[in-house]
Amino acid sequence: MLELKDKVCIITGSSRGLGKILAMGFAREGAKVVVAARTEVEKELLPGTIYKTAEAIKAEGGYALPIKCDVTSEESVGEMVKRVLDELGRIDILVNNAGTAFPKLITETPLKRWELVLKVNLTGAFLCSLGVLPGMIARKSGSIINITSIDAIARSSGFAGAAYGVSKAALERFTWSLAAEVGKYNIAVNALKPREGIETEGLMAVSRGVGRERWESPEKFVRAAIFLAKQAASGVTGTVASDEEYCLWHGLE
Ligand SMILES: NC(=O)c1ccc[n+]([C@@H]2O[C@H](COP(=O)([O-])OP(=O)(O)OC[C@H]3O[C@@H](n4cnc5c(N)ncnc54)[C@H](OP(=O)(O)O)[C@@H]3O)[C@@H](O)[C@H]2O)c1
Repeated sequence: MLELKDKVCIITGSSRGLGKILAMGFAREGAKVVVAARTEVEKELLPGTIYKTAEAIKAEGGYALPIKCDVTSEESVGEMVKRVLDELGRIDILVNNAGTAFPKLITETPLKRWELVLKVNLTGAFLCSLGVLPGMIARKSGSIINITSIDAIARSSGFAGAAYGVSKAALERFTWSLAAEVGKYNIAVNALKPREGIETEGLMAVSRGVGRERWESPEKFVRAAIFLAKQAASGVTGTVASDEEYCLWHGLE
């Protein structure tokens, strides 16, 4: 198992929410964290920027490199990867966490919104994986974590909307294909989902607080993500599971 100390780790969607929580958790383990998202200037109703996450990590003595990146743009992802390689020399871990939702039924979803959800949640993970894989393959080492959701297997639209669940189901399927493809290069690819909701700006926006009594604190989620980040293909790979399951199966206290 790898240790995270000095490992270069890109976390997409880390200007706020779970991405920020993961970025801080990884940095506490000694990882060099690349904070990748679009927001550079805080919006009135949406807290968080890539610089604020980086400042919070640095305030605790960790290392952070904030880079503006839109995961739906091949060009933007390419520029982000190039900058990481120029400044840090390699990429060890990728967390495909950037996500969005459109909390409506299929019949109420305009094409533009359908495409945006699929582009961020699925194509974004594809583009970021393509960006980091050449280096990982050359070094025969790496770990990719795709953040998915229990909505991937829900049999209704759920409060995050149908496009969201469809994109997460596809992301889980993508995880299996990629794990099978890159196992021979010793690269682990796994998917991780919270068993219950974890309070973030995104979840509050789509749920309006519904079901809040069941929401969980993020400790198990971070513990499971750190465990997966340390994997190689000889360890845990091709697994799609919740934070609760990873913690139980692997005795993560
Ligand atoms: N919270 C939960 O309970 C829960 C449950 C299941 C799954 N998840 C998954 O966990 C992940 C994070 O969710 P969250 O609750 O933390 O959501 P959030 O608070 O809305 O945060 C979403 C993050 O994604 C980024 N993002 C959105 N579009 C992007 C783009 N085109 N390029 C780059 N970054 C982009 C946002 O940054 P910018 O706006 O700065 O780009 C933001 O940092 C998502 O994949 C979500 O589906 C969360």
